[in-house]
Amino acid sequence: MPLHNKVDETHGVAEIDVNPLYCRAFEHPVPRNQIPSHSMPPDAALQLIRDELILDGNARLNLATFVTTWMEPQAGELMTECFSKNMIDKDEYPQTAELERRCVNILAHLWHAPSAAASQDGDADSAGSATGCSTTGSSEACMLGGLALLWRWRSRQAAGGGAKPNLVMGANVQVCWEKFCRYWQVEPRLVPMEPGRLHLTGPEAVAQCDENTIGVVAVLGSTMDGSYEPVAEIAAGLDAYQQRTGLDIPVHVDGASGGFVAPFLAPDLEWDFRVPRVASINTSGHKFGLVYPGVGWIIWRDAAALPDDLIFNVNYLGGEMPTFALNFSRPGAQVAAQYYNFVRLGFDGYREIQQACQDVAKYIAEQIAAMAPFELLSDGSDLPVLACKLADPEESGYTVFDVSERLRQRGWLVPAYTFPENMQDVAVLRIVVRNGFSMDLAGLLVGDLRAQVEALEAAPHTPVPLLPEGQRSAFAH
Ligand SMILES: Cc1ncc(COP(=O)(O)O)c(C=O)c1O
Repeated sequence: MPLHNKVDETHGVAEIDVNPLYCRAFEHPVPRNQIPSHSMPPDAALQLIRDELILDGNARLNLATFVTTWMEPQAGELMTECFSKNMIDKDEYPQTAELERRCVNILAHLWHAPSAAASQDGDADSAGSATGCSTTGSSEACMLGGLALLWRWRSRQAAGGGAKPNLVMGANVQVCWEKFCRYWQVEPRLVPMEPGRLHLTGPEAVAQCDENTIGVVAVLGSTMDGSYEPVAEIAAGLDAYQQRTGLDIPVHVDGASGGFVAPFLAPDLEWDFRVPRVASINTSGHKFGLVYPGVGWIIWRDAAALPDDLIFNVNYLGGEMPTFALNFSRPGAQVAAQYYNFVRLGFDGYREIQQACQDVAKYIAEQIAAMAPFELLSDGSDLPVLACKLADPEESGYTVFDVSERLRQRGWLVPAYTFPENMQDVAVLRIVVRNGFSMDLAGLLVGDLRAQVEALEAAPHTPVPLLPEGQRSAFAH
């Protein structure tokens, strides 16, 4: 197929009937930091950019990310059809808005929200009146959850009170919570991790609370090691605190990953709205919700948990549609894809997929535990995520960063990073197992890990090519 079918007057190139792409179309360098003066044929632009993207890592081998890297082709087709739809155009795309409403109700039901139970008991088709919305991801959802907590605390404040609000959470929280605190001038009360306690627990949370605490964040699936924080224990600690002090402190559960794992793999674990103190829960549709990036969700226990003055009304089917979001325009395709996953997989399908991920994570964990240099910190029993460190880093003669870089030579992207304040001397490798990472691939990874460790043990000081500084820790998710 010809790339050019016109004379390119600018460069004096005659009509190109055959396709000598790399000698004619790209004869002149394409400026990188300024818009090119002239257009180029679409196939040439496609090839140019595709070629540059060869330099990216392979998304399927990216064991750093929690975010979906594989969906069924049918879901991809549906997304392609919906790419042009703006989620905010609820009036123009009422059916996309309807799919969002259904997803909110499905999640509220999965998480035992009282409103969902009331509307769906005995009638799976009833309208559903859960309070929640889609977002671009968990970061935005956490911002909205945090704002609701902040507004509720403000409304409890005596007029004229100049106190500074604070938010209690473990130092293992994802950076979005530190952003929330900085952007909205809330004091972050970060409970440090300690050897043997890698996340927040009840007593530590309660010890940080006072009359200016807007809420406690409990993470269902710590980004550091995949472990679940004990939501019910934290809530029970706050119940006792309320009895002592009269202060009623709500809990927000950051279920960025766990919100889509625990309902299927640990249905008896009480971490959601079954715990009366849980006011709101966020999750990432684009993590274990199994949708390509970016979609997130936030659900409030009931309408009372979301202050009215945070809600804006947009025109919807000639009427008013309440919205709560940081962005106005947002892609609708991900919401359609989320709904696709719900109807396509059903409860059983989600359970099977999450179980398969957990089986693979546990297998990798067992294999790593049997390798002398490593000590496991988590084994995939909560999220399908495992973290390990060197058992004797002082004596090893190499670091987990060396292991990570050697694995990268084979294409595996396994991040190495240090823990936060108070445990910064601990460096770990973390592996996230997602849908599409089969037992077969896991076997290959374990084999490569073993080979690289043997090579490092034999010649610990063999220099490996270092990645640029900014890429050394792929821990960004
Ligand atoms: C616990 C937790 N909260 C929030 C986030 C932010 O999520 P998103 O990337 O969907 O904005 C992450 C991302 O990994 C996370 O693990």
